Amino acid sequence: MSYDPKKEKEHFGYRQYRALIKVACVLLVAVGVVVAVHMQNKMVDGMDSNKSKEEKTTQQILRPKVTESFVTEPQDTTTETASTGSETSEKATTPIGKKQDEDLGTFEDKENPAALPDLPFDDDRPIFVLSLPFNGDLVVPRYFECAGVNKVGRYWTHPDPTEVVRRPLGQCLQFNMEQMMNKSSTIPVSSIMEGCGRQSVWMELQYIHPPLSKGSILRSYQCFDPVLFPGALEKLYKAYPQAIIVTVQRKFFPQLWLDALPKDIKTHWKKWCNPTHDDAFPKSSKISASADAKYIEFYNNYYKKLEEFAENHQGWGHVSINLDEDPDVTAKQLEEELKLPQKCWKDSVEGEMVDAAGSARRPMDISFPVLVTSLPKSGAATAQQYFACGLGDWTAAHQWTTPSDSTPDNPMRDVPIGQCLQQNFKVDHKKDVFKGCGHARIWSDVGYLRSAQGKCYYPSLDEGFMDAFAKYYPHATIFHAVRDAGEWLTSTRLNKLPGRWSEAEECVGFPDDPKEDATWHDFYNDYTQRIRKFAASHVNMTYIEVPLSNDGAQHLQSIFGFHPKCWGTKMAREIDQ
Ligand SMILES: *[C@@H]1O[C@H](CO)[C@@H](O)[C@H](O)[C@H]1NC(C)=O
Ligand SMILES: *[C@@H]1O[C@H](CO)[C@@H](O)[C@H](O)[C@H]1NC(C)=O
Ligand SMILES: *[C@@H]1O[C@H](CO)[C@@H](O)[C@H](O)[C@H]1NC(C)=O
Repeated sequence: MSYDPKKEKEHFGYRQYRALIKVACVLLVAVGVVVAVHMQNKMVDGMDSNKSKEEKTTQQILRPKVTESFVTEPQDTTTETASTGSETSEKATTPIGKKQDEDLGTFEDKENPAALPDLPFDDDRPIFVLSLPFNGDLVVPRYFECAGVNKVGRYWTHPDPTEVVRRPLGQCLQFNMEQMMNKSSTIPVSSIMEGCGRQSVWMELQYIHPPLSKGSILRSYQCFDPVLFPGALEKLYKAYPQAIIVTVQRKFFPQLWLDALPKDIKTHWKKWCNPTHDDAFPKSSKISASADAKYIEFYNNYYKKLEEFAENHQGWGHVSINLDEDPDVTAKQLEEELKLPQKCWKDSVEGEMVDAAGSARRPMDISFPVLVTSLPKSGAATAQQYFACGLGDWTAAHQWTTPSDSTPDNPMRDVPIGQCLQQNFKVDHKKDVFKGCGHARIWSDVGYLRSAQGKCYYPSLDEGFMDAFAKYYPHATIFHAVRDAGEWLTSTRLNKLPGRWSEAEECVGFPDDPKEDATWHDFYNDYTQRIRKFAASHVNMTYIEVPLSNDGAQHLQSIFGFHPKCWGTKMAREIDQ
């Protein structure tokens, strides 16, 4: 691995508060939590935008620094300290190492946009991509990136994860809407976009957050949809009376959209969005012909509403992309309407990803759940942080998870993901191996080891588990980060893992002799081959293999397009090393 931690400057802890227990910094945690909560309030009240950088930095410095490199052995921690970090980090602490961009220098500097031909859009006349999720969510960002459009706001107010004030865009819009609607609010907000950044293209404005029930941070669910939240479209129009609405829709086969939805989202909409959106989302989350028909109707109405709104509001343009249309036709249409090169649309839709395992069409959307099959010390933390950085912290779990039943009224302890999987699969024989394991959509480092009790379960080494997973989630994504087998062994030895894997009574799938280098190298390489074979025999799954190096960042950039600094953060490097 070409990471060089020595090059890194000091930075601030990201989310592994539990590591602090090891350094007995309980007090610091308390301070950290207070500061984090304080900061979160600051973020949420929207008033921090004029604060000096120094002030923000001071608050950051107060946050405890994570010094522990890796906690393989799940601790019987009090959940209070173990898990409070994660939510605040989404908004307040996402800074992740200030210097790794040097290693990733091949990416264009987003702050200095190259001159583009005269475009029909800019900061004052921006594009709003307003669509239901899972309609080419990866295609659209690729398209603008290919065309060299630099100022793109995608999910976050600030694309750069090292920005201290980064928050989800939808949350920012929702906060502003609430202040504007609240007559007794003491916070002056005059625009729905206030404090949300300034971009030429905005996308991924829908925001959903599960309830928080960890430690001292208890909060109800949140949801915001810019099209369905009462009054939001009008406010958007008021903020930008000259804008282009881009919609992305399956006009011929809306059923394909329905088929591609992750299993959890219907419940999210019903439970977490309907209360604040006038019950605009369908109420049934069951699978039946009549429920399907309701979703298709909902889908079509969503786009109809946008179309009519744009028609009736002078100054707003509407560009409607039909995902079911021949890409050549759409490419021409977009060239006329947005003045962006034809090749970009075609490439974004039809371009391939090539890795050591072969080549395949790049996915148009992320197929959840994403199961990260990398073994410890092979990029599991890097993968988790990559997705958290692109999609929001709650979406990606690493090693530990808050059970789905945990609520602010009835908070439950975090459990090792592996323990939940083992119980579901081995004991309860549930069809859904992730049943009740929490709300995450990306699952990383899902094995667990408690040498003291002889307990151990690494699901991906268990053939039966992978088959059960594939059966219930036939369209899932397998994400596999790979490194050199020798480096991996060195790293696991430093953390005394091979001995514990070999000796733990229940540990199935690992070599018996912890000292035989060749056996462990073969084991590691065979494991990669097994994962590849599994992926190849499950054609409906998406398989993404990535080297744990800076090449990995470029490969992922072409697929997901999250900010390059999301890959190989300092924190993740320390854990994976
Ligand atoms: C931030 O500063 C700008 C000008 O410097 C001012 O117009 C704006 O009202 C300020 N916003 C807040 C929230 O204090
Ligand atoms: C309205 O604003 C006031 C003052 O900030 C606050 O106390 C109250 O809870 C808000 N009401 C709602 C419904 O959000
Ligand atoms: C893959 O998915 C398609 C469409 O959902 C389905 O018709 C097909 O049977 C699936 N193939 C396999 C091997 O499961």
